[in-house]
Amino acid sequence: MKSNTRSLRALKGVRPIVCLTAYDAITARIAEAGGADLILVGDSVGNTVLGMPDTVSVTLDMMIHHSAAVARAKPETIIVGDLPFGLAHDSFPKLLGYCRRFLQEGGVKAVKIEGGVALAPAVARLIDAGIPVMGHVGMLPQRVHSAGYRRRGLTPADQRQLLIDAQSIDAAGAFAMVVECVDETFVPQITAAVKCPTIGIGSGRGCDGQILVIHDLLGFTIEPPPFARPEANLHRDAVAAVKRWAAKVRSKKSR
Ligand code: KIV
Repeated sequence: MKSNTRSLRALKGVRPIVCLTAYDAITARIAEAGGADLILVGDSVGNTVLGMPDTVSVTLDMMIHHSAAVARAKPETIIVGDLPFGLAHDSFPKLLGYCRRFLQEGGVKAVKIEGGVALAPAVARLIDAGIPVMGHVGMLPQRVHSAGYRRRGLTPADQRQLLIDAQSIDAAGAFAMVVECVDETFVPQITAAVKCPTIGIGSGRGCDGQILVIHDLLGFTIEPPPFARPEANLHRDAVAAVKRWAAKVRSKKSR
């Protein structure tokens, strides 16, 4: 789907927005041909592709390597790159340097940054420097070692914090924001409180759009998260294909 940050932002209130991750040229082509409005090169590449236990070990060089592969598929769909663990908290000149590399070497058109109110000033400065930013509030997988994978928005205090985070990132100028694993009864309040589209994952139906990890959607992930309902079972189909071919080779029926 032909898209950019402005066309995506303009979809709020018009129709639901479809976002998917991709990590290489093949998954980018699948996402684009399937009609995604946005392709995220997520740092979930760590768990889904690189065999890591979480996203914390993913580096900027790894993200640039995978983003460049996605960009080589030349999708018309906007490509957003996930800024890896810790980098958004560096000094602003360093942060700008990381984002510059992401756009220039990785071919992404925008960066996604996990975090709330504390990062709003940096987000505003990046946008001022011409780097579009997608926010990410709610459960933050990069904080697994400090906060765990904990559903958010279950108490009034946490709901207040989420609103502060979402509104500050929105006011800083984010063109969209991921809302991850937030209690679905509270999510509509976040969506109503911000001008940019909210893109939910594991947060129910109250967002302006949804995002999924493509490996979870296609059934490549052996144990997908409970909220991801796979639409295919490519792991099972691929194993069956390998077994069929292996049997042919062993019985000398394959050349
Ligand atoms: O890394 C990722 O894939 C994400 C999600 C929002 C899917 O951040």
